Amino acid sequence: MNYEQIKALLEEKGQTQLLKYYDELDEAGKAKLLAAIAEINWSFEDDLKNPVDMSGKDRDIRPISGLRLADIEKKKTEYKQIGVEAIKAGKVAAVLLAGGMGTRLGVDGPKGAYDIGLTKPLYIFEQQMKNLTEVVKECGVIVPLYIMTSDKNHEQTTSFWKEHGYFGYPESEVKFFKQDMAPAVDYDGKIYLERKDTPALSPNGNGGWFASLKRAGLCEDLKARGVEWLNIYAVDNVLQRIADPVFVGATIASGVNCGAKVITKNNPYEKVGVLCLDGDKPDIIEYYELTDEMANEKDADGNLAYGFGAIMNYLFRLSKLEEIVDKRIPVHIVEKKIECVCEDGVTRKPEKENGKKFETLAVDLIKPMGSVLPFEVVREKEFAPIKNKTGVDSVESARELLKQNGVEL
Ligand code: UTP
Repeated sequence: MNYEQIKALLEEKGQTQLLKYYDELDEAGKAKLLAAIAEINWSFEDDLKNPVDMSGKDRDIRPISGLRLADIEKKKTEYKQIGVEAIKAGKVAAVLLAGGMGTRLGVDGPKGAYDIGLTKPLYIFEQQMKNLTEVVKECGVIVPLYIMTSDKNHEQTTSFWKEHGYFGYPESEVKFFKQDMAPAVDYDGKIYLERKDTPALSPNGNGGWFASLKRAGLCEDLKARGVEWLNIYAVDNVLQRIADPVFVGATIASGVNCGAKVITKNNPYEKVGVLCLDGDKPDIIEYYELTDEMANEKDADGNLAYGFGAIMNYLFRLSKLEEIVDKRIPVHIVEKKIECVCEDGVTRKPEKENGKKFETLAVDLIKPMGSVLPFEVVREKEFAPIKNKTGVDSVESARELLKQNGVEL
């Protein structure tokens, strides 16, 4: 699109502020800005006009049943055998969602490149690969790995992996793909400029991971390899088990379309989303949506009825993902601090929230998947998320947990 076409488009959309500095730019800057505007996905306009009702008031929320530690222990050998067979047959791939900005941790560059070591370097990516490599050794086959990045961290992520020799993995078994970006807007819905020649765009959440993987042509790759199950996981949990044979086996044996690793909430009000049913469909309910009564409700065995906290480690059936890939999932509108060009023409990071971003969440895929198996894991052994530098879910707390689990730092 040329300048006239872009100008007409922005006039129609009420977004002409994006051309505020156009005349100041050199030819390369002008071309860059026009190309970036032409690429904008305008679906956010509809999301602003028709925001998703997050109150949950129209849902028929009920507790969901799942496999608790004791149930798993009883059938561990059987589950493990099924899982190992599936992995050996090449039916399982791993998908690392690493497109996030890691703003709470406050580091430049990919979160996975963060060094959590004390006496020697130990990168988050490295620690996670140690875990995956254990499964590979046990099963004697490489579990193919797909890594989602975003425009904000793709180059840094891919060069980091190359520099570190793919953490012992064959290069051909690690594939990267980029997720989509969404505009960041002010409270009037006007898209910010991040630089005079760059609209403010940020990763659109982790919910679009499969659509992005498919768009990158990797679905064909998965099918050519005979993959049937995708284990997606977040970059921040340094204790999680990836392609865990017992989890894979239990999910396959139960005939569901999706398995979800969960931890039992440590108190009725712990701030985690929990798995539940909406009528007969699996769903997630956020901690702030639970009434007091629901938060404290117990099942027949005395467990919290809404106690299965999701930890972003899911096993999805590929054929079902393909079936639902075009279904719309909720877009969450989140207030954020958005770096932008200020009145004086200088780019700054604001001290407080100054607008909104649009994000979809991987957990919202559970409902369209139609069925889910909550699979309980021991919190202290499999859940050490790094969201912040200090305090709760931080580098400090994760280091403590790693030490408890015998990891040398
Ligand atoms: P978080 O919700 O913790 O977001 O992501 P974040 O961007 O990493 O961190 P903050 O909120 O800015 O501090 C959970 C997982 O989902 C991935 C992250 O990389 C992490 O593995 N993610 C998140 C994406 O892949 N894309 C996104 O757009 C957002």
